Amino acid sequence: MEDTTTAKPISTSDMQQADVVNPHTKQKWAYSPIVKEHFFHPKNLLLEEPTEGQFDSRGTVGSPACGDVMDIWIKVDPSEDRVIDLKWKTFGCGSAIAATSMFSVMVTENGGLKIDDALKIKPQDIMERLGGLPNRKIHCSVLADKAFRKAVNNYFHATGQHTRVEVDGARVIDSRMNITDKDIEEAVLEGARNLEEVQKKLKVGVGDPESIPEIEQLIRFYSEKYYG
Ligand code: FES
Repeated sequence: MEDTTTAKPISTSDMQQADVVNPHTKQKWAYSPIVKEHFFHPKNLLLEEPTEGQFDSRGTVGSPACGDVMDIWIKVDPSEDRVIDLKWKTFGCGSAIAATSMFSVMVTENGGLKIDDALKIKPQDIMERLGGLPNRKIHCSVLADKAFRKAVNNYFHATGQHTRVEVDGARVIDSRMNITDKDIEEAVLEGARNLEEVQKKLKVGVGDPESIPEIEQLIRFYSEKYYG
């Protein structure tokens, strides 16, 4: 059987065949064969309620971009600090399903990654293994990463490893509009790539021009992080 978990770039002919055409904008989206395989045959999907002791912790996040929810459960081998099982469930779209399925494979393949190595997986790494996703769908792949980080933090709390907990607090960038760095991150994930586009969504910095250099720096940071 073909190994569909390994990266294969989308060929030109794949890209020319649009899988989805937006009826309003006529924009075309193409999905790689690997994305389709993981969407139609998701790996590590949790179909039934977990049993007592089956997992060590759970992480749940909702996406402000589309209201979708992602749930991830992990089982850790404490002697090796390795994630030996990862299961998930989501109300997200096909891209979220494919990306999370691939993420679950990447974390658990070959006996499972050490927690610190699993935390290093970036959205671009998932994208590479999937053979790409349409730009507008990149935020869907971030749901798995966020839910996983929450599950790991919960595991650290539950096992008394408090110094390993990653704190991911929001920082206010524009105090007049009460807009944080997380709001700017979401705007970039929803497709805004420059100040003008971010301001269309958030009005950030409009009444506070002094915050603009930092806003532009954050736009560059998140664009680099998610789109390379
Ligand atoms: S998860 Fe919401 S659009 Fe993909």
